[in-house]
Amino acid sequence: MKALILSGGKGTRLRPLTYTGAKQLVPVANKPILWYGIESIVAAGVTDIGIIISPETGEEVKAKTGNGDRFGANITYILQNEPAGLAHAVKIARPFLGDSPFVMYLGDNLIQNELGHFLTDFKEQHMDALIMLRPVPNPTAFGVAQVDAQGRVLHLVEKPKVPPSNLALVGIYFFANTIHEAIDRIQPSARGELEITDAIQDLINHQSHVEARQIEGWWLDTGKKDDLLEANQIVLDTCLQSEMLGEVDSQSQISGRVKIGSGSKLINCTVRGPVVIGEDCHLENCFIGPYSSVADQVTLIDADLEHSVILKGAKVVGIHQRIVDSVIGQRAQLKLAPQRPKALRFMIGDDSQIELS
Ligand code: DAU
Repeated sequence: MKALILSGGKGTRLRPLTYTGAKQLVPVANKPILWYGIESIVAAGVTDIGIIISPETGEEVKAKTGNGDRFGANITYILQNEPAGLAHAVKIARPFLGDSPFVMYLGDNLIQNELGHFLTDFKEQHMDALIMLRPVPNPTAFGVAQVDAQGRVLHLVEKPKVPPSNLALVGIYFFANTIHEAIDRIQPSARGELEITDAIQDLINHQSHVEARQIEGWWLDTGKKDDLLEANQIVLDTCLQSEMLGEVDSQSQISGRVKIGSGSKLINCTVRGPVVIGEDCHLENCFIGPYSSVADQVTLIDADLEHSVILKGAKVVGIHQRIVDSVIGQRAQLKLAPQRPKALRFMIGDDSQIELS
């Protein structure tokens, strides 16, 4: 069994946040989204992992993620020159995959469920494909499945204008080597991509053994700002453990689950968890409320925030209206003059500089 993680594409939906970087490296609770997928694949016992990368962001993904040692895996990087579709990525990966069955994981997806029992079912029941479904309120944004009363998949369609159900395809799939013949038979879709959804439909058309399971736990497709904030909230809620490696002065108050990385200093701050603060941060006269993630090397002085994600090297100074539901990009700087507007909501990209006066 091998794994194929898709971390290519252009990531335009998180622009400007990922204009300069891979969307799969955007951190959730200070850990790149991509790494959650790798960890969950390794936890299911699969350690031979191929990662699809793009020319634009591939080097960054490689530099950050490495050869797999830190995960107990062996990672092979596979360059896809154009984001020509999920099935195209499988085609490119054929020399790596050979005839092995594989789990395919979209690098911007996060699920709560463990993969182990899906993998067992897939193997023991000799399936050609096992897909995962979850009801969503906005099926037009996804691949959508029509299933019969027994849960058998009748029909799949990618981003339908009129969805046949509210069951979206989750971005995690198990495939036997028969998927390659199906991919060879399909044509690019109206948006010009070779769709994995069409390849699975082709398997169904050829009476192959395709099954679906509905997942119960949370599933997050972190492509947009609000999804990212929701992912951050859920992961902090369910996975964060307290750890205090930085320095906290006697004026500061820390409550709830809070993790503070080494080299970070907190002076006269109130922190109410769940909150994660990275390494080498400087926080002074701040309130940091629940569901906030502050990445490494961030400076926050005279600032109040909650339910927000602050990326590496950002600087926020003099903002005492509470910053809520905000994502602040790497190295962004935000400074406020004394006269202040009432509410602030931000999505600020890498390298931005904002001064409200
Ligand atoms: O998130 C689930 C959805 O993912 C499914 O419901 C859809 O059926 C499936 O087509 C896919 O739709 P998206 O439009 O969300 O896919 P996106 O273009 O965002 O790509 C998903 C991941 O795969 C992302 O990490 C980028 C990567 N990718 C994408 C393409 C098109 C590649 O590595 N190569 C590609 O050619």
